[in-house]
Formats: sequence, C-alpha cells, structure tokens
Amino acid sequence: MSDPVHRPFLEDVLSDELQQLANAGLRRSLKSVRQRRAGTVLLDGERIADFASNDYLGLAADPRLARAAAAVLESEGTGAGAARLISGNHPIHESLERELASFKHCARALLFPSGYMANMGTIPALAGTDDVIYSDELNHASLVDGCRLSRATVRIFPHADINALEQMLSEDAGQYRRALIVVEGVFSMDGDTFPLDALMPLAKRHGAWTYVDDAHGTGVLGATGRGAIEQCGVLGQPDIVVGTLGKALGTTGAYVAGSDQLIEFLINRARSFVYTTGTPPAMSAATLEAMRISDTEPWRREAVRERAARLRQRLLQGGHTVTGAHDGHIIPVIIGDPVRTMQIAADMRRRGFLIGGVRPPTVAAGTSRLRISVSAVHPRELIDAFAANLLDALRTGASS
Ligand SMILES: Cc1ncc(COP(=O)(O)O)c(C=O)c1O
Repeated sequence: MSDPVHRPFLEDVLSDELQQLANAGLRRSLKSVRQRRAGTVLLDGERIADFASNDYLGLAADPRLARAAAAVLESEGTGAGAARLISGNHPIHESLERELASFKHCARALLFPSGYMANMGTIPALAGTDDVIYSDELNHASLVDGCRLSRATVRIFPHADINALEQMLSEDAGQYRRALIVVEGVFSMDGDTFPLDALMPLAKRHGAWTYVDDAHGTGVLGATGRGAIEQCGVLGQPDIVVGTLGKALGTTGAYVAGSDQLIEFLINRARSFVYTTGTPPAMSAATLEAMRISDTEPWRREAVRERAARLRQRLLQGGHTVTGAHDGHIIPVIIGDPVRTMQIAADMRRRGFLIGGVRPPTVAAGTSRLRISVSAVHPRELIDAFAANLLDALRTGASS
C-alpha cells in the first residue's frame, strides 16, 4: 500500500488566506443588527442611525408589512413546502406576480427567492456558448456571475459608455447567434443611472436584447416609483426587467418581468427558479402591502430625494465631490485605501452612525469607498448631524 498523500489541513490553508485578507485590509466580518426602527438600528445594544441599508422608503420595519405577513403566516404556515413547479405554488405568489407585471408595464412577472438568484438563473437561460453578452463594467456581482455561468462570450464595456457599446456591437455584427446587453438601472455602488433612453434604440438597431436590473431604482425613481425605466421614459421597452424586493420594498426576493413567452420560458429553464423552494407565501403578502404603501404614500419617494439632495449639498459645501444625480439616494464617497475606508466607517460608528465601507472585490482596487444610503424616514436634523460628523471624520481620517 502506498503512503497517504500529505495535504495541508483545510483549516491551516484557510487561516493563512484569512490572514492575507486581513493584512490587505480586506477581511470582512458580520455584525448583529437588530430592531430596525425608523432609520435606526440596535447594534451592540446601542441605537444608532442607519445610513448603510437599502431600506430607501423606510418600509422594512413598517408594522403594516409585518401585520400583512402575520395574517398569512397564521393561515398558511411558514414554508411554501416545495419548488413552485412541484407543490409550492401559492395563489398569493401569482397575485404578487400580476401586481409586479402591471407595475413594470410588462405582460408577466416571475418571482425568485433573491436578486442574486434571479440573475444567476435568467442570464444563463437566455444566452449560451454561441452568444455574446455586453456587460457594463460596474455591473453587480450577481450579473457578472450570471454572465460567467452562461458560457457566452462576455464583452465588458466602459461604464455607461453608449458609444463604446455601439462600437462593440458594430464590430461583432453577424458573428453571434444572440446578443444580450446587461446593465443596471441605478448602479448599486456608484448611485448613477444608466442612459436607458439611449440604450433602447441602439439595441434595436443592432438586434440585441436588453436586460435591465433595476434593484436600486425600483420604488424610488420615477414619478410613481417604477424605477429607472420610468425615469428614463422607457417603461415597457426593455426585453427583460429585474427588480428586487429586499431594498425599497422592505421584504425579500426578486422578480423578472417581460413578455408572456419570456416568463413561460423561465418557468421551464431558469434553474434557480425550477430547483428551489418557493418563497414563503407570507413574504408575498408583505410585499403586496409594501407595493400598496409605496403607491399611496408618494411622500416617501419625495422625502428620499429631498434628504439625498440635502446630504449631497452638505458634502459639496464641505469640499467633497459626490457623483451621480444631485438627488441620487446612493451616495458614494471615494476614499481609495481600504484600511482608511474602514477606519472612517469605524469612527462614524463611534459617533452613532452606521455606514457601509465597500472594498475590493466589490469595487475596483483603489476605489474603496463609503457607501451612504438615504431613507425617507431619516429626519432632516439627522441628515445635518450625519453630514457634520462625516465631514469631521473625513478631515480627521485624512490626517491620520
Ligand atoms: C444590482 C443588484 N442586483 C441584484 C442584487 C441582489 O439582490 P438580492 O439581495 O435580492 O439577492 C443586488 C444586491 O445588492 C444588486 O445591487
């Protein structure tokens, strides 16, 4: 019998890798966040202001959503019990899908357990080895991974650069079976909006399909919260529209909206739909309530934009450049170095404000940043206090 092959212990290898991440300032860890209330959370027993979450309309802790979920939990139980195609399809899933479809001006919509799964299932269902995907360089990891999984040729174009995209489409004319253009409505780490109005005619000219992930625009942008597609005047035009429910709508899950044929096809071929348990019916009840509130309380959308404009103004007055629209609800403050980024986030935490520090690989090396998100339920005085503290932390952090 030959000697057993000597392999390093799994734990030793992983400890080394974790140490390397720590040395580069890139190690991440979990914190326990509890009792979300009106723009604040309980962190380590202390109530602090939350500028890190995507709860843009302030609905995640709204008791009306909890009550809607509780009523369905009481009668239907917790779990869907199986994949939707087996025995886990509840009428409330279909009610929510009808609402979402009409919300996005599409024929139909299909629920997925998360935005990550929506993208990982939909892109590979639509494109394969003979096809080409054009993907914005700042697209979210779930879009990047969906593109990779598809095995299509993936061409990355410079961020929001319609001319560069047009150049690529022209170069590739006639070479591929299908062409899919994948973009975000509002970019999650940069807060800017893709020029969808220019994208639609371009895609049409080149016979390419359009895929718009509007995770961060849904509920917030456009006069009625239909997202970047409403703000850019292209409602009902993209071939595939994705939205998530765990951000402005305050629940969890995601959907793909489009034609009847698209949805029928995804029910058959999107693996992250076919091979996963249906979302809990109670969550669909909460989402329906969130949609009702979003529709009947437009002040929430106005408040997010007003608070965002106010905060951006304060930062500009303090000498900081902030990218994106003047009232964009995602506000990146680029620091560059990952260690300093986390030091400033920790300083803000000590001052009573939670903000996200975003480092590679989420963003490109050298562009580590504070990602600030504004919510409708942040009082104006809180915005002012946050801005004053951030400017002070940035000054102090700059000299350390
Ligand atoms: C553009 C985009 N798509 C998809 C997702 C994933 O959504 P979910 O959190 O529902 O998985 C995110 C999450 O941040 C996102 O920013």
